[in-house]
Amino acid sequence: MRLDKLLANMGYGSRKEVKQLLKQNAVTVDGEVVKDSSMHVNPDEQDVSVFGERVIYTEFIYLMMNKPPGVISATEDLVDQTVIDLLDPLSQHFKPFPVGRLDKDTEGLLLITNDGQLAHNLLSPKKHVPKTYYAKINGVVTEEDGIAFKQGVELDDGYVTKPGDLKILKSGPQSEIELTIQEGKFHQVKRMFEARNKKVTYLKRISMGSLVLDEELELGDYRELTSEELNALKNIE
Ligand code: URA
Repeated sequence: MRLDKLLANMGYGSRKEVKQLLKQNAVTVDGEVVKDSSMHVNPDEQDVSVFGERVIYTEFIYLMMNKPPGVISATEDLVDQTVIDLLDPLSQHFKPFPVGRLDKDTEGLLLITNDGQLAHNLLSPKKHVPKTYYAKINGVVTEEDGIAFKQGVELDDGYVTKPGDLKILKSGPQSEIELTIQEGKFHQVKRMFEARNKKVTYLKRISMGSLVLDEELELGDYRELTSEELNALKNIE
């Protein structure tokens, strides 16, 4: 790969800006100062450094975000702030996108990547990747709701959901639950409770497949996936 392309891809500026870096003697390949932007390098085998810092070349980026409310799960929007707007410029440079959508008012686990293949696998209806949500509900959630979700409930558009798994954490006028579903229909959790005449007042995703929200992440914070998390996600059958 051309040196200027590699550095531009890794966020060191446009090809023109990269040329300036080379002019300043800031770039070395295997310890030697290089000025030729068209030089071909192999980032896996050669040490490319800028101002003495090694450039680790990666094509893909994998981030776990604790999505805050009020932000939309999209790459751009004319009105609202998006989850991509919350990323630092270097991460944005990889042109990542959110894997699936959480509603504007929903919080919690969101995977952000530029790996289209992984995103496709995670979202494919054929793979039945389970997603678990924690929710607060206006209304007394009972075992009957659990049985109904297990059998599938009919949503407002006539669609009958696949079996969902309900765990009641607190049953009362304000209930707290965890619900695991294997699909991702629009507003699905909210509409499943509506089908039971109950209202979701707070919703947070806590897991998606093997990936579990890191509770250390504050709302709006994100971090790279660990190699264990990434390998487990990639092992979806
Ligand atoms: N179900 C919903 O209703 N909203 C979400 O954001 C995710 C699942």
